[in-house]
Amino acid sequence: MSFDRSVKIAPSILAADFAAFGAEIEAVEAQGADWIHVDVMDGHFVPNITFGPATCAAIKPHIGTVMDVHLMIAPVDPYIEDFAKAGADILTAHVEAGPHIHRTLQAIRGAGMKAGVALNPGTPAEAVAHVLDLCDLICVMTVNPGFGGQKFIPMHDKVRKLREMIGDREIHVEIDGGVDPTTAGDLVTAGADVLVAGSAVFRGGSVSNSEPYGENIRAIRAATS
Ligand code: DX5
Ligand code: ZN
Repeated sequence: MSFDRSVKIAPSILAADFAAFGAEIEAVEAQGADWIHVDVMDGHFVPNITFGPATCAAIKPHIGTVMDVHLMIAPVDPYIEDFAKAGADILTAHVEAGPHIHRTLQAIRGAGMKAGVALNPGTPAEAVAHVLDLCDLICVMTVNPGFGGQKFIPMHDKVRKLREMIGDREIHVEIDGGVDPTTAGDLVTAGADVLVAGSAVFRGGSVSNSEPYGENIRAIRAATS
């Protein structure tokens, strides 16, 4: 995976048909998705449960782009190797999942993946100041994690602050939650390069009618140019 700062749209399969992940991923990639965002929830760190490494391993052969795995679980460390084996390209842990985010990021890179760190809306940019050299992606949550389809919480100041802190390091700034054509433009202007979108990509379409996925992706991209 080479680094670039162009805008990347990462559909979250949280909004896809759970009984058809493989076909949904292939459809959304054919319609222009840049990365596939995979939300892992444990019912403990967040009040919802999705799936784990076995599902990630099952969908991996259907992903031709980048498998961007967002862990909303605590603890993280005992499962890092399982997600590496499942084929995650990027593995993102929450700074709030603690207690040793520095060790977690080292372990993710040590397992051969790109390392991401996510910040809840209530967590300041400064929380990652001392781990910048250990991470490849910072995920700024613009909803409280746990569910798709929630109302966007503006975090532009945090995004600008992070870009300042990052300087010329090769770190992606990803936005997750409530991204749609009305919110995407300002986020990219503030410094984001990866836009996760669940409902705003999958709405109106299905595996057998996937053109709306393409229209939705193009509408988000157009809002950023
Ligand atoms: C929320 C997840 C998001 C979610 C985004 O906890 O991390 O990735 O799927 O969904 P939308 O785009 O519908 O807000
Ligand atoms: Zn996510």
